[in-house]
Amino acid sequence: MYLLTPHILRRFWLFLGATSCVLKSRFFTHRPFFISHVITSRCFAKCPTCLWRGQSIEQYDTTKIIKFYQQARNLGFVSTTIWGGEPLLREDLFEILGECKKLGMIVGIITNGYLLPQYYELLSKYLDFLIVSIDIPDEKHDQLRGVPGMFNNLLFGLKQIRGINPYLKVFINSVVSELNYKYVRKLIDFAEDLSLSITFESVNQGPVEFPRQEGKTVVDLRLSPEKEREVFNLIYQLKKKHSSINNSRSYLKLFKGGEVRYICHAPEISIRVYPDGSVVNCQDRTRSIGNVFEENLVDIIFSPQMKRLQKKAHSCSQCVDSGVIESSLFWNINFEVMANSMRLFIK
Ligand SMILES: C[S@@+](CC[C@H](N)C(=O)[O-])C[C@H]1O[C@@H](n2cnc3c(N)ncnc32)[C@H](O)[C@@H]1O
Ligand code: SF4
Repeated sequence: MYLLTPHILRRFWLFLGATSCVLKSRFFTHRPFFISHVITSRCFAKCPTCLWRGQSIEQYDTTKIIKFYQQARNLGFVSTTIWGGEPLLREDLFEILGECKKLGMIVGIITNGYLLPQYYELLSKYLDFLIVSIDIPDEKHDQLRGVPGMFNNLLFGLKQIRGINPYLKVFINSVVSELNYKYVRKLIDFAEDLSLSITFESVNQGPVEFPRQEGKTVVDLRLSPEKEREVFNLIYQLKKKHSSINNSRSYLKLFKGGEVRYICHAPEISIRVYPDGSVVNCQDRTRSIGNVFEENLVDIIFSPQMKRLQKKAHSCSQCVDSGVIESSLFWNINFEVMANSMRLFIK
């Protein structure tokens, strides 16, 4: 049973806010309200699955970034998730997070956790949610990601941050691929030992999004259809007993059923901004639909390119990550997904 503490009431309030954004956009405005900010493509890790580490032109002028967020807030954007590359490598991250908070946005980051021991205190002050990626819950994680000490650092950081701010939403994110599918049960145990929850997602494949020396494409890391069905069926069954699993049953069902078809609404829900400010055209990643540091955001989100992208996305089911699929299902008023999201906000 949940006690109605001020924190739970605040989270319920945030959930209502997010739901009203979805409904407003779906039925009236058709414009996005979340930001997915790839703030840097720099990273010291070498995860074989990664599509977003590499070289890119990066905007270092913090005032331009803050101006973008001010415009976004004025246009009704309510939340940003900052990731990369490794977002904790951005020297001005806390300045940006602070401004976003002042603007009243819900802010979160996705990190590999290596630098958590250095930054957990600051993060606990600035963030509404923290997502830490774990592929294998022991030192084998270091080998997979190519960084000695990664697992111990993230474990230490997670414990510290839980200790100083038990109310911060902390999620584990685990990309299920050929490299780690055998660890699903262990990952759930790991999350539960730390009183955390965990999201599983399948691996997006294709060419890397920023140029780099090694690993120019991610292929053959997604599970074979049979194996994917088996592993996601296992997660589906485990979810009956483990409320620590964040995925909705609807998301898991798509994978355990073997046919991942959904109507994508990602461009009506969020914009993805790259390190140079370009707004990603997910249908053609060699072109962008605008640049938030060079144009007014209002012109980008009402542009004909944006309209075209929103329409084209409806017949695409390319992305398999939980963010795109769960939000698209929510948009389609899938009650199970809505109830599951409310549980995640409040828990
Ligand atoms: C690209 S990382 C960036 C943030 C940070 N460096 C990290 O590793 O958490 C964001 C998330 O994407 C996940 N990821 C990596 N490769 C992926 C892929 N091919 N498809 C889907 N998610 C992937 C990572 O495990 C992580 O949880
Ligand atoms: S730590 Fe994150 S950004 Fe870095 S290589 Fe791994 S998934 Fe990519």
